[in-house]
Amino acid sequence: MSHGNEQIFNPAERVAKISHCSSMEQYKQMYDKSLKDPEAFWGDIAKNFHFEQNVTGKFMDYNFDISKGKIFIRWMEGAKTNICYNCLDRHVLAGKGDQVAFYWEGNDPADAEVVTYGELLKEVCRVANVLKAKGVAKGDRVAIYMPMIKELVVAMLAVARIGAVHSIVFGGYSADSLADRMLDAQASVLITADAVWRGAKLIALKEIADDALKVCQAKNVKVKMSLVVQHMKNVTAPQASSNGTANGNPSKKTHFDDKGNFKVGWNSGLDVWWHEAVKDVSSDCPPEWMDTEDPLFMLYTSGSTGKPKGVLHTVGGYMLYAATTFKYTFDYHPDDVYFCTADIGWITGHTYVTYGPMLNNATSVLFEGVPTYPHIGRFWEIIKKYKVSKFYTAPTAIRALMKFGDEPVKKYDISSLSVLGSVGEPINPEAWMWYYQIVGDSNVSIADTFWQTETGGHVITPLPGATPTKPGSACFPFFGVEVALLDDEGKEVKGEGEGYLVFRRPWPGIMRTVYGNHERFETTYFKKFPGFYCTGDGARRDKDGYIWVTGRIDDMLNVSGHLLSTAQVESALVEHPAVAESAVVARPHAVKGECLYCYVTLAEGNDFTEKLIVELRNKVRTKIGAFATPDYMQLAPGLPKTRSGKIMRRVLRKVAVGDRDFGDISTLADPSIVEVLFQHRPKEGKV
Ligand code: WT7
Repeated sequence: MSHGNEQIFNPAERVAKISHCSSMEQYKQMYDKSLKDPEAFWGDIAKNFHFEQNVTGKFMDYNFDISKGKIFIRWMEGAKTNICYNCLDRHVLAGKGDQVAFYWEGNDPADAEVVTYGELLKEVCRVANVLKAKGVAKGDRVAIYMPMIKELVVAMLAVARIGAVHSIVFGGYSADSLADRMLDAQASVLITADAVWRGAKLIALKEIADDALKVCQAKNVKVKMSLVVQHMKNVTAPQASSNGTANGNPSKKTHFDDKGNFKVGWNSGLDVWWHEAVKDVSSDCPPEWMDTEDPLFMLYTSGSTGKPKGVLHTVGGYMLYAATTFKYTFDYHPDDVYFCTADIGWITGHTYVTYGPMLNNATSVLFEGVPTYPHIGRFWEIIKKYKVSKFYTAPTAIRALMKFGDEPVKKYDISSLSVLGSVGEPINPEAWMWYYQIVGDSNVSIADTFWQTETGGHVITPLPGATPTKPGSACFPFFGVEVALLDDEGKEVKGEGEGYLVFRRPWPGIMRTVYGNHERFETTYFKKFPGFYCTGDGARRDKDGYIWVTGRIDDMLNVSGHLLSTAQVESALVEHPAVAESAVVARPHAVKGECLYCYVTLAEGNDFTEKLIVELRNKVRTKIGAFATPDYMQLAPGLPKTRSGKIMRRVLRKVAVGDRDFGDISTLADPSIVEVLFQHRPKEGKV
């Protein structure tokens, strides 16, 4: 990423004028207070929420130093609350029941629906009662595998209402990935839908979920119910295309009957239709009052060993942090219409589609589709339709849309926009400038928000009414977050400089453990630098104190804003009988940010054929999901290893981009392998 653009952009006037935090002085004052007196700072914020019981013990207590004992983080000891109550009942009781919570916008522009806070509360209570009747109780894990529909929001809030723990698996994951996650969580219920159109593609969710359930059954994990939303009946299928196939989609033939109805397999005894289950069920269900440190949800993120980690968040701290970051980072006001394009299956959707907005009684757009369907101006069309004022998306989407030029944006009046957010990876200054000038008409504030599944909410971000921004920099820490940069020896880099990005103390929204494996939590995040939470990212601090996150410094890669570990992909590849060994690295990609470049060493007697390449790509798709499909597959007669057998990945990254500037390779057991690998590079453009 270039660090050239250090031009400064002041907050948009119209944002600063009404902002919750409207100057750097105010930011500094609030920030200082949040560090000096966390109890007073967060205690004041907590007063805006309903706590059934107030704090009885310490407001904040923690240990970040593994050399002193177990790592732990606790906020608001003794207090009791319920996040669903705070998202719904609190607003309905305040007379806001008729306010729109979500404008649902379907994959097809013909499909749209409006849902209020009052309606959501009733539906949430019904589903909560359905779950309770099935014996789901406090602490039980419920897996959710759903499209971006209102029932997904209802499902997660219903689970939270009864004190169960939701584990949402993104609808783009494969059956194997879903099964792995359900097994790790020992989920007793699954909530899914029949299927969904994503652009012109059909995703047969229930079919995939059924495959996952078979795996669970084979491993003796008892799932009591699969609750299925009948979604296909209510949506418009993609229009017929010129190639003559029904709806332009081959799956139309296999998944639909003659009358055009979507076909589903049915396991009586396990499967229950959502609409039948909620019929005649009471829309009254008292919330379970939870300890602030009771688990709220787990969400799996890639780990460097290849086995995904169940990041666990708890009720109280997450609630305060989701609400507060949403309010300040987007400078939310009651007349805003907010639109976050992330899928709820990722942390961005958890915190900034569901919890953050709903805790603030906000009105949002919930979008089922993709940015380029049925046309490349879909985002802008939606923004115009609902007069969206705050918009939150990912650099990969911005880069993909930038390719079509300015015209598709200019076609729509989107002057309602005043704050534009970015998340998922470092945003390159070119994309930042396009976002600012073309989408924002140079009359907006841009918020490049740095955070992680683990952090629960934004930890480094500009505030749109206060912070002068530099394109490509996430700027300054959020309230309560204390940033440090460390060198390899763990020595702090003060002032200008570069190092490991770490945090010195907990903020309310930080994860509490890895589900079922606290030791993994400690080793992953706290072992390298005792006393600090280690993000795994590198960062630079410039002369003005701005933080520039430079990307991962471990074996993780970021494809279109989705974190993957190289180990996870390698273990999928070596499952193929033709593969003896594999090594995967990230290669820069103009739209995705990074893509997968895979080296495979074949077992004796195999040829590196087109057919094998297809099989290998499919292997990764079925083990992980379509979003992880490799872009490059290369034969590696051998891998560059040190004498101790460690793969020198930096060499592989160089070969991937055709760069011969390897640096020192004298520690390789066989330095000649580098030239061999070079000769086996696939031709550009060929996968
Ligand atoms: C990793 C976390 C947080 C929601 C989406 C991803 C990268 C994220 C930024 C940003 C630079 C960023 C980091 C981080 N990242 N946002 N604004 N600037 N890098 O969540 O899957 O947990 O990934 O995404 O590398 O560690 P995640």
